[in-house]
Amino acid sequence: MSTSPRWFTDTGPEHSQWYIDRFRKMAADGVDLAGEARLVDAMVAPGSRILDAGCGPGRVGAELAARGHVVVGVDIDPELIAAAEADHPGPAWVVADLAELDLAGSGQPEPFDAAVLAGNVMAFVAPGTERAVLTRVGAHIRPDGVVVVGFGTDRGYPVADFDQDAAGAGLVLEHRFSTWDLRPWSEGAGFAVSVLRKPGEAAVAGPVGADLALSSRRDCAD
Ligand SMILES: C[S@@+](CC[C@H](N)C(=O)[O-])C[C@H]1O[C@@H](n2cnc3c(N)ncnc32)[C@H](O)[C@@H]1O
Repeated sequence: MSTSPRWFTDTGPEHSQWYIDRFRKMAADGVDLAGEARLVDAMVAPGSRILDAGCGPGRVGAELAARGHVVVGVDIDPELIAAAEADHPGPAWVVADLAELDLAGSGQPEPFDAAVLAGNVMAFVAPGTERAVLTRVGAHIRPDGVVVVGFGTDRGYPVADFDQDAAGAGLVLEHRFSTWDLRPWSEGAGFAVSVLRKPGEAAVAGPVGADLALSSRRDCAD
């Protein structure tokens, strides 16, 4: 395993349970916790394979699964993965380090159509492993797939560093917003939502998939 993530070194021993309880309470209170999933859902075909990278207790992956996608959630914190398994049965929840991710080696060889890193995952990985994390996540995405990443810009990982790491990982920055509901990006914004694409040929779709691909890529009026 690589050096220890900030998720462990920068927080106290009770932090994982606090995080689990916090999101359970928000869910019970009816807080809208699905914003990231709604954005990703809008970017992929129905029934896509989606990697929830740094899934925590499963909030985003569970919503994507509820929307019909096939989800694998990966997190380095076993306490959070146990909570995801308890609260959100269905998706595969896996304990693994994103910096060394090898799902094929653990029996999940199929590439993903998309990955999402929500909730400041990039600010919580081990210092110096950011490029490795993006590289290993990118390695699990099919050509032409997307990686959507959101993190606070004041958390010790500048957006400029992220851009270098994403490019070094072979991912192309396609869009950037300042919120998950697509408010425009501006330098100095407190949050960055970046849409990265893995270069490659457009997916070859079958008869049904081709219709869906076309209808999702053009104005329905044409
Ligand atoms: C603030 S939580 C976000 C959890 C979830 N994505 C959400 O939005 O609720 C950050 C997560 O990143 C995970 N993480 C940090 N470094 C990691 C690594 N190297 N591999 C896998 N997960 C990691 C932590 O364990 C933690 O669950």
